[in-house]
Amino acid sequence: VVLRDAAQRQGAPTDLAETLAAIVGTTQVLSDPSVVESFTTDWTRRFQGPARLVVRPADTAAVAAVIKACSEARVGVVIQGGNTGLVGGSVPAAHPGLEGPPVLLSTSRLDSIGPVDTVASQVTAGAGATLAALQRAARAAGLEFPVDLGARDSATIGGMIATNAGGVHVIRYGGTRAQVVGVEAALADGQVVSRLGGLVKDNTGYDLSQLLVGSEGTLGVVTAARLRLVPHMAERAVLLLGLASTAAVTELVAHLRGHLSGLSAAEIFYREGMELVCRHSGLTPPWPEASEVYLLIECSGRTSPLEEMLEALSDLEVDDAATAVATDSSGIERLWSYRERHTESVSAIGVPHKLDVTLPLGVLGEFEPAVRRRVEEVAPGSTAILWGHVGDGNIHVNVVGPGPEDERVDSAVLELVAGLGGSISAEHGIGRAKTAWLGLSRSEAEIAAMRAIKTALDPEGILNPGVLLP
Ligand code: FAD
Ligand code: MLT
Ligand code: ZN
Repeated sequence: VVLRDAAQRQGAPTDLAETLAAIVGTTQVLSDPSVVESFTTDWTRRFQGPARLVVRPADTAAVAAVIKACSEARVGVVIQGGNTGLVGGSVPAAHPGLEGPPVLLSTSRLDSIGPVDTVASQVTAGAGATLAALQRAARAAGLEFPVDLGARDSATIGGMIATNAGGVHVIRYGGTRAQVVGVEAALADGQVVSRLGGLVKDNTGYDLSQLLVGSEGTLGVVTAARLRLVPHMAERAVLLLGLASTAAVTELVAHLRGHLSGLSAAEIFYREGMELVCRHSGLTPPWPEASEVYLLIECSGRTSPLEEMLEALSDLEVDDAATAVATDSSGIERLWSYRERHTESVSAIGVPHKLDVTLPLGVLGEFEPAVRRRVEEVAPGSTAILWGHVGDGNIHVNVVGPGPEDERVDSAVLELVAGLGGSISAEHGIGRAKTAWLGLSRSEAEIAAMRAIKTALDPEGILNPGVLLP
């Protein structure tokens, strides 16, 4: 009765809630408005939208049945993993043409992690398993899952596959896409496709697993994945350098890429970010006089990564640079904190416009001052904090000041990026935040092809309506 009342209040077909309850059990259909509301705002607090209820299936068959029921009722389905996505894709958006508010499908109960296969260096993980849980399982078997990001305690494998998450080790191992051996997913019509057999080579037509990577929940619900693991690197060294300009950083990174085989991260941030992080988190700055630009590099290996790193730097003129180095875990964690705590520190001063972009490495030196000027022109008095994965040409431009609905700064930055040969999304995806600008990075023909794929797999458009395609 409670479910039927909630469904009627929201204008839903009265029997959908009951149908879903019959699939997953009544306790796994959440319809109390205050509970539902706790799922409908994104991590940044910039995006929100109503859902009629939250459903939490525990296995692939239940996911498929939920999708089929929603499809038959012409009700949208919004898929949510850890809700750490930064482009609003995990919360409901506008969905013209569908019946009432969407169902929010949480993958939290799909959290199993299978035994680590040490013969193939692979593991099968449920879509709702967190990155941290997967990392722990891999390490316990002497291996490593090579993708790492600051949201590791909440971000899920399904969300990472859906967004093709990047993180800090792309420079060495590639992003999530490169770790996916195969995916299992429920499609919009309730059919299940499953490629969890672990074959590294399998040229039998369209690669549906890779098609789902980066599809942001618009083509299917990922329920599990077979993932590649890499050898655990016992030794790590982290060096933080203070430099004068972005151009000096990119020159150094270009050199290290060619000379340091153990290079596993190259991250950039700036004076204002360091000051904000220290203010927000109470960390002491690494040296007394702030530098204009900071470069954090990590090298890992089985032996002596510090020596390797110092040797690669020895023929460069970086003697004057302020530096801090760490080879023990607490020192390493401390140096990484200056970089990793940027996201939470920025959110503490307001609701940021998060513009995650890539440019050719050689253009970053020109882009950084240009984007600061452009932001000041369009949103005078706003705060721009920049950081990113400089080894990948990936800069996160965060602007605090303009209201959540004001898109002028988004337009200005993304147009500047496109004009310099960059991409409007490096690793966070398009979500609902950037659909309007997809045409800056994708041609009409490409968008038409993407639309054709979407229509073929999800003709009613029920999966993540309003996400990715304009
Ligand atoms: P959600 O936020 O729940 O969802 C993200 C998108 O994936 C949505 O469109 C959703 O509908 C879809 N989705 C989720 N699960 C599934 C599924 N099973 N099947 C189909 N679609 C699904 N990102 C990076 O790339 N690099 C970083 O370094 C990085 N660092 C971060 C640091 C912090 C502190 C935070 C808060 C975020 C960071 N992110 C980073 C962004 C975010 O963590 C990633 O995008 C992550 O992949 C999202 O995972 P999630 O489980 O939270 O997905
Ligand atoms: C990062 O690299 O810090 C993440 O992508 C998160 C962010 O951009 O805020
Ligand atoms: Zn990032």
